[in-house]
Amino acid sequence: MRSAYTTPEVALSARRPDELDADLLVVPIFEAAASGDTSSGDTSSGDASGNAAWLDEACGGALSRARASGEFRGKLYDAFTTPVIASSWKTGRALLIGAGKSGDWTAERLRRLATTAGLHARQRHIQRLAFVPGTSRIATETAAQVIAEGVCHANFDGGSYKTNDDKWGWLQHVEISLPDGLKAQTAVERGRVIGELTNQARAFSNEPGNALTPRAFAEHAQAIGTAAGLGVEVLDETKIAALNMGLLLGVARGSSEPPRLVVLRYEPANAIPGVVLAFVGKGITFDTGGISIKPAQDMDRMKDDMSGGAAAICAITAIARLNVPVRCLTLVPMTENMPGGRALKPGDVLRSAEGKTVEVLNTDAEGRLVLGDALWYARQLGATHLVDLATLTGACVVALGKTTSGLFGTPPAWVEQVRRASERAGDRSWPMPTFDDYKELFKSEIADFSNTGGRPAGSITAALFLKEFAGDLPWAHLDIAGTAWAEDAKPYQPKGATGVGVRTLVELALDAGTWSKLNLRG
Ligand code: BES
Ligand code: MN
Ligand code: ZN
Repeated sequence: MRSAYTTPEVALSARRPDELDADLLVVPIFEAAASGDTSSGDTSSGDASGNAAWLDEACGGALSRARASGEFRGKLYDAFTTPVIASSWKTGRALLIGAGKSGDWTAERLRRLATTAGLHARQRHIQRLAFVPGTSRIATETAAQVIAEGVCHANFDGGSYKTNDDKWGWLQHVEISLPDGLKAQTAVERGRVIGELTNQARAFSNEPGNALTPRAFAEHAQAIGTAAGLGVEVLDETKIAALNMGLLLGVARGSSEPPRLVVLRYEPANAIPGVVLAFVGKGITFDTGGISIKPAQDMDRMKDDMSGGAAAICAITAIARLNVPVRCLTLVPMTENMPGGRALKPGDVLRSAEGKTVEVLNTDAEGRLVLGDALWYARQLGATHLVDLATLTGACVVALGKTTSGLFGTPPAWVEQVRRASERAGDRSWPMPTFDDYKELFKSEIADFSNTGGRPAGSITAALFLKEFAGDLPWAHLDIAGTAWAEDAKPYQPKGATGVGVRTLVELALDAGTWSKLNLRG
């Protein structure tokens, strides 16, 4: 695969800053309350100003000078490197990284700062970091986990097929100094696994469509799943046909690449009884739109139309690696959406595996078709709770933009569990309505319903289409069309795939002890 990542070692310690032995010390610093003021600030929170005095002294006053001149104000993601001149200190340089206003401090900010610092270091071929996050409103375990996640995210290369590419270095070792840090070892391990599998999801999405065909995607999923001890089944076109999955087969007709349906199973011995958490991810390895073809402009981005599938595969892998005591299932229908000679035509009617008929009015609304059959199959395989993830609609990008995924589903108590998991994960999502009234928009003259409701409420009608296949199970749907891909680089995110969804699903599984007790069946 083109993209590459390595997972750094991450160690916890309770050592003082002067005892930390690394190539670079990383210290988050808040914006000063007033300009030029190095001593004021909220010493009980975040750290920054509270830390500034000892740090300023070790750096010979460089911090207060930079603050006075305006060179470094602690603005979010700003970076300022200074030598440490105190001879008793083991690390010779410090990276002060802007943490923004102390009142706005969150775990997600700390995660992003860790990535920002990691990228800064890698660009300079610095391999050993020591983090001094300081005393903070963020619980020790959370801080340890998000720093570990953040530095793993930094150790990712979008990569290229250039034959003479200039490579950055890799982080090798990160020490996190927290006063009561030693108790957070499992949190660090959790952060490393989640970070690593988020990187794997990003690698999948970045991969060109000619490299990641449905067959190649299925083989990679099989390899990753097997290595993590998952049960793996790859259904080929014959088995898919035997299950009468007319929606998945319909989309695949236009392509000369055969479809696949990947099923991954995680069945721990100590699982919570009666719970099977199923993840269903859209796995369109390239979406041309089919006969309802897309415009040429930006069509190349449609290689990431399998990002939901990648998240579902990588999340169950992380959950298995972490021995989370919840039975999980992942289903990913994989196909291209192409305008070949045998392709679906607008007006065609398909029959789903469940028996419902669909009039295809727009072949570009293919995601809901393949997911329909997969959601049904998840129920056949014993799912008790459903979450699907899909780069489903441009309408969702219009509604919520590039930073928040659309969240749909039923009942509201289940949707809320998913929303909270996504918030903890730093994968923001926000609930959208699924009132029955919208169903009118995709009714069909000749079939049970059509596959498009037109432009109004486009992400909602897509979600309601999926609901038709969720039976009466608690079901949540994340539309990640806007969040799966970053068009512009950010300090904490290079251009390209984001790996959205992996952390949400892992957090959801980790919290199963809470939601498994809720009565979610209507
Ligand atoms: N994969 C696209 C959705 C998409 C659009 C993802 C832009 C990321 C960025 C999906 O298959 C699609 O084409 N949806 C159509 C549905 C319409 C025809 C009802 C859309 O959103 O235009
Ligand atoms: Mn499409
Ligand atoms: Zn699509």
